[in-house]
Amino acid sequence: MRRLMAANWKMYKTSAEAKDTLLLLAELLGNRSPEGREVLVFAPFTALEASAEAMRALHGGHVGAQNMYPAMEGAFTGEISPAMILASGASWVLIGHSERRHLLGESDEFIGRKVRLALQTGLNVMLCVGETLEEREQGALAGVLQRQISLALEGIEKEAMPHLAVAYEPVWAIGTGKSASSADIEEAHALLNQLLEKHFETTREIPVLYGGSVKPENAHSILALDNVDGVLVGGASLQAESFSRIVTA
Ligand code: 13P
Repeated sequence: MRRLMAANWKMYKTSAEAKDTLLLLAELLGNRSPEGREVLVFAPFTALEASAEAMRALHGGHVGAQNMYPAMEGAFTGEISPAMILASGASWVLIGHSERRHLLGESDEFIGRKVRLALQTGLNVMLCVGETLEEREQGALAGVLQRQISLALEGIEKEAMPHLAVAYEPVWAIGTGKSASSADIEEAHALLNQLLEKHFETTREIPVLYGGSVKPENAHSILALDNVDGVLVGGASLQAESFSRIVTA
């Protein structure tokens, strides 16, 4: 399974800052992603074009948007379409991040519409799933993941599998400095693989990444866990030095 080493820059970096960070990252990595690994950077909309341009300096690197609206165009003030993302030079889109689910009220159904249109348009999709602390304490982990996966992937067929990745991001581990334990990560990733195998009626082909307080110090041990095919990094991806240590961990 290929490994995806992904950065989610959230609402950080102007286009000039994004460019500088990526050029330094490329330099630190010797202008290529490590063998068997791809680097993916989810940049703010206003930095997509500059990031896609700068990413040319890094072989095996790709740029993605952090969200999109599920329509090709229309009267949707403040939104961005999958065609606009593609035209910027980006090839991926992050869908269903917990900050959008919880701060902006996105439903599983709405997320499913985005996944379908993104794939139809030719974007690669990283679907984010994960439970809140309250859901975990209620023993609802399996049910939450099942609901999030089945509604997000409704109508998505096997042909889409090469263009899909899933990121498990427990909400309580995001930005808290406290990553999930090895046992928690392995349990959730095993559940996700079962759900994906059931949905697509085939053995695992979709990378499942872990996200939530990944740092240079814990990346190696997280990447060594069963069924972990990469990491999705927030805070520790903002500095090229720190992210390059994660990419090579
Ligand atoms: P942190 O790495 O800052 O915890 O953020 C994780 C995240 O939300 C990545 O999408």
